Amino acid sequence: MKITDVLRAEHAVFHNLFDHIEAVLPRTRTLAEVKSLTTVVESLLAPHSKTEDNLFMEPLEHCFDQIGQKETFHDEHVIIDAELAKVHRAREVKAAKKILLGAVTASRKHFEKEERIVFPMAERILKAKTLSELGETWLKRRAIAVK
Ligand SMILES: [Fe+2]
Ligand SMILES: [Fe+2]
Repeated sequence: MKITDVLRAEHAVFHNLFDHIEAVLPRTRTLAEVKSLTTVVESLLAPHSKTEDNLFMEPLEHCFDQIGQKETFHDEHVIIDAELAKVHRAREVKAAKKILLGAVTASRKHFEKEERIVFPMAERILKAKTLSELGETWLKRRAIAVK
Protein backbone atom coordinates (compact mmCIF):
# COMPACT_ATOMS: atom_id res chain seq x y z
CA MET A 1 0.00 0.00 0.00
CA LYS A 2 1.19 3.50 -0.80
CA ILE A 3 2.17 5.59 2.22
CA THR A 4 -0.15 8.37 0.99
CA ASP A 5 -3.10 5.96 1.08
CA VAL A 6 -2.13 4.87 4.61
CA LEU A 7 -2.10 8.50 5.75
CA ARG A 8 -5.41 9.28 3.98
CA ALA A 9 -7.01 6.26 5.67
CA GLU A 10 -5.76 7.50 9.04
CA HIS A 11 -7.22 10.94 8.31
CA ALA A 12 -10.60 9.31 7.70
CA VAL A 13 -10.46 7.75 11.18
CA PHE A 14 -9.60 11.12 12.70
CA HIS A 15 -12.53 12.80 10.96
CA ASN A 16 -14.85 10.21 12.56
CA LEU A 17 -13.28 10.80 15.95
CA PHE A 18 -13.54 14.58 15.53
CA ASP A 19 -17.23 14.27 14.50
CA HIS A 20 -17.80 12.28 17.69
CA ILE A 21 -16.00 14.84 19.86
CA GLU A 22 -17.95 17.74 18.34
CA ALA A 23 -21.19 15.83 18.92
CA VAL A 24 -20.58 14.87 22.57
CA LEU A 25 -18.71 17.93 23.80
CA PRO A 26 -21.77 20.20 24.24
CA ARG A 27 -23.23 17.70 26.73
CA THR A 28 -19.95 16.82 28.44
CA ARG A 29 -20.14 18.07 32.02
CA THR A 30 -16.84 17.34 33.70
CA LEU A 31 -13.27 18.45 33.17
CA ALA A 32 -12.13 14.83 33.50
CA GLU A 33 -14.28 13.77 30.54
CA VAL A 34 -12.93 16.57 28.31
CA LYS A 35 -9.37 15.65 29.30
CA SER A 36 -10.01 11.99 28.63
CA LEU A 37 -11.30 12.77 25.09
CA THR A 38 -8.16 14.85 24.61
CA THR A 39 -5.95 11.93 25.64
CA VAL A 40 -7.63 9.75 23.00
CA VAL A 41 -6.83 12.34 20.31
CA GLU A 42 -3.24 12.71 21.56
CA SER A 43 -2.56 9.00 21.64
CA LEU A 44 -3.81 8.52 18.06
CA LEU A 45 -2.30 11.69 16.67
CA ALA A 46 1.23 11.10 18.02
CA PRO A 47 2.05 8.06 15.81
CA HIS A 48 0.35 9.68 12.80
CA SER A 49 2.37 12.90 13.00
CA LYS A 50 5.52 10.91 13.76
CA THR A 51 5.02 8.85 10.58
CA GLU A 52 4.63 12.03 8.56
CA ASP A 53 7.64 13.72 10.15
CA ASN A 54 9.99 10.74 9.99
CA LEU A 55 8.94 8.67 7.03
CA PHE A 56 7.33 11.09 4.72
CA MET A 57 8.72 14.59 5.12
CA GLU A 58 12.35 13.57 4.69
CA PRO A 59 12.16 12.27 1.11
CA LEU A 60 10.09 15.33 0.24
CA GLU A 61 12.20 17.89 2.02
CA HIS A 62 13.55 19.55 -1.11
CA CYS A 63 10.00 19.97 -2.49
CA PHE A 64 8.74 21.60 0.69
CA ASP A 65 11.66 23.97 0.51
CA GLN A 66 10.64 24.91 -3.02
CA ILE A 67 7.04 25.68 -2.15
CA GLY A 68 8.08 27.35 1.13
CA GLN A 69 6.01 24.92 3.21
CA LYS A 70 8.60 22.85 4.98
CA GLU A 71 8.34 24.61 8.31
CA THR A 72 4.57 24.93 8.06
CA PHE A 73 3.75 21.24 8.15
CA HIS A 74 6.10 20.29 10.93
CA ASP A 75 5.21 23.45 12.88
CA GLU A 76 1.53 22.67 12.63
CA HIS A 77 2.15 19.29 14.30
CA VAL A 78 3.92 21.08 17.15
CA ILE A 79 1.21 23.77 17.44
CA ILE A 80 -1.63 21.21 17.52
CA ASP A 81 0.20 19.12 20.16
CA ALA A 82 0.74 22.24 22.26
CA GLU A 83 -2.97 23.15 22.05
CA LEU A 84 -3.98 19.65 23.13
CA ALA A 85 -1.53 19.84 26.04
CA LYS A 86 -3.24 23.09 27.16
CA VAL A 87 -6.51 21.19 27.72
CA HIS A 88 -4.82 19.23 30.51
CA ARG A 89 -3.86 22.47 32.25
CA ALA A 90 -7.36 23.98 32.02
CA ARG A 91 -9.22 24.42 35.30
CA GLU A 92 -12.68 25.11 33.96
CA VAL A 93 -14.73 22.77 31.83
CA LYS A 94 -15.86 25.59 29.51
CA ALA A 95 -12.29 26.68 28.78
CA ALA A 96 -11.14 23.07 28.29
CA LYS A 97 -13.91 22.45 25.76
CA LYS A 98 -13.03 25.62 23.85
CA ILE A 99 -9.35 24.65 23.61
CA LEU A 100 -10.16 21.09 22.53
CA LEU A 101 -12.59 22.32 19.84
CA GLY A 102 -9.94 24.75 18.60
CA ALA A 103 -7.39 21.94 18.33
CA VAL A 104 -9.92 19.77 16.46
CA THR A 105 -10.60 22.58 13.98
CA ALA A 106 -6.87 23.21 13.52
CA SER A 107 -6.30 19.49 12.91
CA ARG A 108 -9.06 19.33 10.31
CA LYS A 109 -7.53 22.31 8.47
CA HIS A 110 -4.07 20.76 8.68
CA PHE A 111 -5.34 17.43 7.28
CA GLU A 112 -7.18 19.23 4.49
CA LYS A 113 -3.94 20.98 3.46
CA GLU A 114 -2.03 17.71 3.52
CA GLU A 115 -4.69 16.04 1.38
CA ARG A 116 -4.82 18.95 -1.04
CA ILE A 117 -1.11 19.85 -1.27
CA VAL A 118 1.26 17.38 0.37
CA PHE A 119 -0.07 13.96 -0.64
CA PRO A 120 -0.62 14.83 -4.32
CA MET A 121 2.84 16.41 -4.38
CA ALA A 122 4.36 13.22 -2.93
CA GLU A 123 2.54 11.15 -5.55
CA ARG A 124 3.83 13.40 -8.32
CA ILE A 125 7.41 13.48 -7.14
CA LEU A 126 8.15 10.13 -5.54
CA LYS A 127 8.20 6.96 -7.59
CA ALA A 128 5.34 4.49 -7.12
CA LYS A 129 7.92 2.00 -5.79
CA THR A 130 9.16 4.45 -3.17
CA LEU A 131 5.58 5.21 -2.04
CA SER A 132 4.95 1.46 -1.63
CA GLU A 133 8.24 0.92 0.18
CA LEU A 134 7.35 3.70 2.62
CA GLY A 135 3.98 2.02 3.10
CA GLU A 136 5.80 -1.25 3.85
CA THR A 137 8.03 0.50 6.39
CA TRP A 138 4.90 1.90 8.05
CA LEU A 139 3.41 -1.63 8.23
CA LYS A 140 6.58 -3.04 9.78
CA ARG A 141 6.74 -0.26 12.37
CA ARG A 142 3.08 -0.87 13.23
CA ALA A 143 3.76 -4.60 13.64
CA ILE A 144 6.54 -3.87 16.11
CA ALA A 145 4.36 -1.34 17.96
CA VAL A 146 1.51 -3.82 18.55
CA LYS A 147 3.71 -6.71 19.71
FE1 LIG B 1 0.27 16.16 9.59
FE1 LIG C 1 -1.79 13.90 8.44
